[in-house]
Amino acid sequence: CAVAAVVVGKRVKSRRKWRRVVGVLAELEQGCETTVGRLKQVVDAMAVEMHAGLASEGGSKLKMLLTFVDTLPNGSEKGIYYALDLGGTNFRVLRVQLGGQRSILEPDVERRPIPQHLMTSTSEDLFDFIASLLKEFVEKEGDVSDTTLMRRRELGFTFSFPVKQTSVSTGILIKWTKGFGIEDTVGREVSECLEQAMARIGLNVRVAALVNDTVGTLALGHYHDPDTIAAVIIGTGTNACYLERTDAIIKCQGLLTTSGGMVVNMEWGNFWSSHLPRTSYDIELDADSPNPNDQGFEKMISGMYLGDIVRRVILRMSHEADIFGDALPKLSMPFILRTPLMAEMHEDDSPELTKVARILKDTLEIPDVPLKVRKLVVKVCDVVTRRAARLAAAGIVGILKKIGRDGSGGITGGRSRSDIKMKRTVVAIEGGLYTSYTMFREYLHEAMKEILGEEAAQHVTLMVTEDGSGVGAALLAATHSSDPVDNVQ
Ligand code: GLC
Repeated sequence: CAVAAVVVGKRVKSRRKWRRVVGVLAELEQGCETTVGRLKQVVDAMAVEMHAGLASEGGSKLKMLLTFVDTLPNGSEKGIYYALDLGGTNFRVLRVQLGGQRSILEPDVERRPIPQHLMTSTSEDLFDFIASLLKEFVEKEGDVSDTTLMRRRELGFTFSFPVKQTSVSTGILIKWTKGFGIEDTVGREVSECLEQAMARIGLNVRVAALVNDTVGTLALGHYHDPDTIAAVIIGTGTNACYLERTDAIIKCQGLLTTSGGMVVNMEWGNFWSSHLPRTSYDIELDADSPNPNDQGFEKMISGMYLGDIVRRVILRMSHEADIFGDALPKLSMPFILRTPLMAEMHEDDSPELTKVARILKDTLEIPDVPLKVRKLVVKVCDVVTRRAARLAAAGIVGILKKIGRDGSGGITGGRSRSDIKMKRTVVAIEGGLYTSYTMFREYLHEAMKEILGEEAAQHVTLMVTEDGSGVGAALLAATHSSDPVDNVQ
């Protein structure tokens, strides 16, 4: 009888624990709620903040940075151009051969992870590393004799951080994001840092264009499809840019461009609104980050952070009801659960969730997790990813609304939907979260349809541009080349 009482007692205890875990999940779901109504509030807030950021310097958390890119590639670009792409998990060097008539030969691309220590080292260390890889790459191309090395090559430099541009090829770093933090680069002219590093090793290359990754992506998107008017990155970080009319850029009155427009780098990662569904996990993640109160939208959406939100939730669950058993040193380590692993768990379609079990064991050192708990982990991944994808969708519709392409007549327009003939609108999109994470992509598409309505959504195309951030920079280097016809014979 005493034994039976102990067994019953254990069961009651474990049921109670499970109830607590389910409570944590329910609270998470509630905190992450993104009803269409709420998403529409985010859309409106995005459009309003875009106006405010264009009206005055510092008028909004959205910086709405000028890029000095007023014409986008049209397909006639010719020559060989190099590109450097710095800002994600990998650093890339590209050599792009443009043949005119919208033809780009398969670019040569080399990818290298950025050594972790360089992300927080000195400016000189980082730029020396980049310049030496470029030199290696240029020399490996095989067409390089001493004399060609002496000739000036031209380069598009994709530098995916907030930069206050002073021209299409120059700009000053405002701040670092995504885990980079090299004090002595902030406030410095970025192309100069690179050119000095190249000069130190005798590499003769001119930076013809300094661009954000969103701008490179827009350039390539527009090259392939002239209806492309905006670009979005959802990768390690997240951001968007779009083509704005110069007369709408009130903070730069008198800005004249031949096209009457200019690409604006929104830096939407820093967007903030009280309508964003924020949980205690987001607050803690922000407080523990090297840039608290910064990049709030990015911290809810991008690949750098999603895995860590999930880790924080399951850590709370294990504290509330030790669902994973004893000491869990790994689960307490920030950023140990990277987003690609989280995506793999989320998309595990095996009946026993074997991938989930493997990742929990190998990465977090939690062995023998029961199926019921593995299912719970998948659910947590789902809630966090769904919120991220839906918020990104609201951001995109916010841009469409600002430029009157959401089918509603724009932010101040009063016309009814039926009066408005929607133009075909293409948004170029890149970044691993969108391209490699099916569930994320599907949630994003679903939310776009919910917000815009089926009819309007049909006029909006999201177009993936492969290596757009790099190839696009090479295209912009061509557009702004000092020798635009045949750069290197
Ligand atoms: C971060 C950077 C931004 C970049 C984005 C995507 O938000 O600040 O410049 O475009 O990441 O890489």
